Amino acid sequence: MSKLNKITGLMAAAAMATAVSGTVLAHGDVTPQAVDTEGLTPLGEEWADTNPYRDSDDFDRAVEIGASAYNQNCARCHGLDGISGGIAPDLRYLTADYDGDEWFKYRVINGAVRDGAVYMPKMAETLSQEALWSIRSWLETKYVEE
Ligand code: HEC
Repeated sequence: MSKLNKITGLMAAAAMATAVSGTVLAHGDVTPQAVDTEGLTPLGEEWADTNPYRDSDDFDRAVEIGASAYNQNCARCHGLDGISGGIAPDLRYLTADYDGDEWFKYRVINGAVRDGAVYMPKMAETLSQEALWSIRSWLETKYVEE
């Protein structure tokens, strides 16, 4: 290998490393997308303990809204269509009951921050409760048993 080729190779490797770490960092810097929840029963300020749309007439509409809201706001980390690529947990395993709801609610309100590093932003600061329970409703239709 000529000296010039070697240098070009090293530069390419460095550029690739920068691109990769750039991608990883970008995950902590998420711009939430507005979600139009028109047609759903408004839920108010107080957070429900269980998915209010699960056994309601709103469920189908919630699933529809949740599908696109998920792909815009959660898929970059949790995987397209709910199928995790390994960066963050696969949300299809959350059961459609109180336990699943509790864990879902906890994470979207608190996010995941450890030693000052944001692994998951506090989604409830930027998305409405209606939007988040819609995402949960959609995820329930994707549920897979562990
Ligand atoms: C910036 C990346 C990122 C985005 C965007 C993100 N999450 Fe997360 N999420 C994570 C990570 C990483 C974890 C694991 C946290 C941990 O292990 O402490 C997690 C954990 C969770 C959990 C707990 C799952 C479990 O099995 O423990 C839920 C529920 C969740 N996220 C929901 C959502 C929803 C809903 C959205 C979109 C509104 C979302 N997340 C957006 C990175 C993200």
